[in-house]
Amino acid sequence: MLEILKYPDPKLKEVAREVDKFDKKLHHLLDQMAETMYGANGIGLAAPQVGESLRLFVIDLGPMEDQPAKLYEFINPVIESGDGKIVFEEGCLSVPGVTEEVVRKERVSVSYQDRNGESHRMVAEGLLAVAIQHENDHLDGTLFIEKLSALKRRLLKKKLERAVTL
Ligand code: CO
Repeated sequence: MLEILKYPDPKLKEVAREVDKFDKKLHHLLDQMAETMYGANGIGLAAPQVGESLRLFVIDLGPMEDQPAKLYEFINPVIESGDGKIVFEEGCLSVPGVTEEVVRKERVSVSYQDRNGESHRMVAEGLLAVAIQHENDHLDGTLFIEKLSALKRRLLKKKLERAVTL
């Protein structure tokens, strides 16, 4: 299992760079990330969360949706468009113990590459769309707690600052 970085680790604030080598090393990282996500009972994990500044993430909604596991791997994802509005109570493996309602697009169209470098496009909705937007934010150094209203964010930041100084 890989170590999951926790807020306020500065590496979580970095903008990740594009993947250009679709080699064994990449496949190994993807396998390890999936294992780490399952081990931590998460439904998504982005490379910056394990200290790798690369534009990729894994998602598996199985545990949330009571359905057989389906592992998604998104490499160099780009959210091309989105519509609708959905509010979901989100958590993050890098911000343990915090869940907050976040407003996101209900449906997104995302282009991405798979582990072999092949290009794809997918239209996702509901929880999958939420997860894609949450993980994609990690690639730009944004945590879900930054999507909250200014007041909620202030209260939460105080709480988190206290938590990490203990
Ligand atoms: Co997260």
